[in-house]
Amino acid sequence: MILETKRLVLRPWSEDDAEELYQCARDPEVGPPAGWQPHLSVENSREIIRDVLSAPETFAVCLKERGTPIGSIGLHRNDLAEKDDEYELGYWVGRPFWGQGIIPEASREILRYAFEDLKMNRIWCGYYDGNEKSRRVQEKLGFVYHHTTDGIEIKQLQEIRTGHSNLMTKERWQKVQLFLRQKCLLNTFLDNCAISQAQYDKSFGDLVELMKMHGVE
Ligand SMILES: CC(C)(COP(=O)(O)OP(=O)(O)OC[C@H]1O[C@@H](n2cnc3c(N)ncnc32)[C@H](O)[C@@H]1OP(=O)(O)O)[C@@H](O)C(=O)NCCC(=O)NCCS
Repeated sequence: MILETKRLVLRPWSEDDAEELYQCARDPEVGPPAGWQPHLSVENSREIIRDVLSAPETFAVCLKERGTPIGSIGLHRNDLAEKDDEYELGYWVGRPFWGQGIIPEASREILRYAFEDLKMNRIWCGYYDGNEKSRRVQEKLGFVYHHTTDGIEIKQLQEIRTGHSNLMTKERWQKVQLFLRQKCLLNTFLDNCAISQAQYDKSFGDLVELMKMHGVE
């Protein structure tokens, strides 16, 4: 399966990606916040492609303009997402690409894929205490806080951490899509001078109120 967004192609990992994977995943700022060790060599990255990243619904995140992977995103079943109609979303991107909205862009497409194509009903997403960057990604995507778990053992790093778990239901995702479509429509009207700034502000305020009434903030 290959998925596409404005700037990205999301496609299966291949062992040929080992060199690019190693360049990103050797960075101690990338793996440990997500609970895994930095990769040790190109060969180690190749093994991880074979043993971990070749799992179903796991995608290399590639910038269209470069073609090679700069990160990874995937849907997994685990203790949090154990039922047939739910998955947990996981992601990372190489440090030179942080702060460009790459993972939010990839995640929106993965959420669409999960709800529309795979017919899932609930997608979980978590972060370890202190990982503000990931917390912020989940906030921007519209996930809702669900619970906190203390004393999570991270075997690879021999650490005990606290984890926060957030949830996106299909119903909420559909409401978020509606909100985004309405916002996009209003922006188009404003760009084409079909409405004034004052009319835009009033309509946008009404839209925000409406979405709050539907539980989307
Ligand atoms: C968390 C992560 C996936 C975010 O991806 P991203 O594509 O950079 O996401 P965004 O561009 O939306 O940035 C998210 C937040 O990170 C912070 N941020 C961005 N660039 C940063 C930088 N260079 N240094 C520090 N913080 C930065 C900002 O607070 C930003 O929020 P904002 O949009 O409100 O400013 C990425 O930082 C990463 O891979 N981190 C290491 C692995 C990891 O933590 N994975 C998640 C495990 S739960």
